[in-house]
Amino acid sequence: MTKFPSKKITELFNIKYPIIQAGMVWVSGAKLAAASTNAGCLGIIGAGSMKPDLLEQHLKKAISLSNNPHALAVNIPLLYKYAQEQIDISLKHGIKIFFTSAGSPKKYTKYLKDNGATVVHVTSSPQLALKCQDAGVDAVVAEGFEAGGHNGRDEITTLCLIPQVTNVLNIPVIAAGGIKDGKSIAAAFCLGADAVQIGTRFLMTQESSAHQNFKDAIIKASPSDTKLMMKKYVPVRLLKNNFYDQVQELEDKGAPKEDLIELLGKGRAKKGMLEGDIKDGELEVGQVSACINDVPTVAELVESLVLDYKKTINLF
Ligand SMILES: Cc1cc2nc3c(=O)[nH]c(=O)nc-3n(C[C@H](O)[C@H](O)[C@H](O)COP(=O)(O)O)c2cc1C
Repeated sequence: MTKFPSKKITELFNIKYPIIQAGMVWVSGAKLAAASTNAGCLGIIGAGSMKPDLLEQHLKKAISLSNNPHALAVNIPLLYKYAQEQIDISLKHGIKIFFTSAGSPKKYTKYLKDNGATVVHVTSSPQLALKCQDAGVDAVVAEGFEAGGHNGRDEITTLCLIPQVTNVLNIPVIAAGGIKDGKSIAAAFCLGADAVQIGTRFLMTQESSAHQNFKDAIIKASPSDTKLMMKKYVPVRLLKNNFYDQVQELEDKGAPKEDLIELLGKGRAKKGMLEGDIKDGELEVGQVSACINDVPTVAELVESLVLDYKKTINLF
């Protein structure tokens, strides 16, 4: 890629391409993160579904599989009760890049920076983006409404969010939500982003640990098959299935958040995304799922992103 508008993120992380493979619960373990680093991207282990000992196994494996272990990062959802232990284990294994989310950027940024780490926090609004900058993070992920996984309540789409965030910050901005090919990467750069974070498209690779049934369901997904649900509790974009119908029923009735928590129970996301129960499991996925019909290797995906990006910018 020769015409990227900004080198801020490639220089910050010392990576070839300004492409971040997103941290994703039950999906981005050692194999996916290592393959992403080997393809020239930043590879993030999604620690939100890992107890500390499991995270340690993934860290060791990822480091052994990666040709660029300096480009391995860990995503720590800050509300997770093991956040502190996860941070300390990651630091012990030499991880220097942390993507924090789902919690206040004030909580761990100083601790991480004092330990020599680079910190990126995920935001879904310009107001939170400013709080991230004030907390001292090195960059933010601006994640729009169409993204897979947990999301903000404000429903700001990526197209609107990127300029809203770049206009108020003087630190690098990584765009996320709905990015799947060279055209959407080029669009994010035109709007002022310094890099992109891609989730659902990396979920649909050979190396992701998403169950084959989940991948097959994404191939069949139509444009209206995802919806942001559970705004009373933790907003999350779901692929429609039996579990989704039950959530919808509770929300139609105006049920309190306790009922949602009870329905969610324990292990619902693992059941769906890792174990492949696509009827009753929780399936987190982005709107972009309707545009994805194949499951390439990470190397093939990154090569096609780069080629498509080059073709796209040459049109101008
Ligand atoms: C299955 C799945 C799990 C996710 N888990 C997390 C997570 O644990 N922490 C987090 O910060 N974001 C999580 N996300 C959001 C991604 O990191 C990323 O920002 C998002 O997927 C980008 O949108 P896209 O799916 O349209 O590419 C998840 C997304 C998916 C699809």
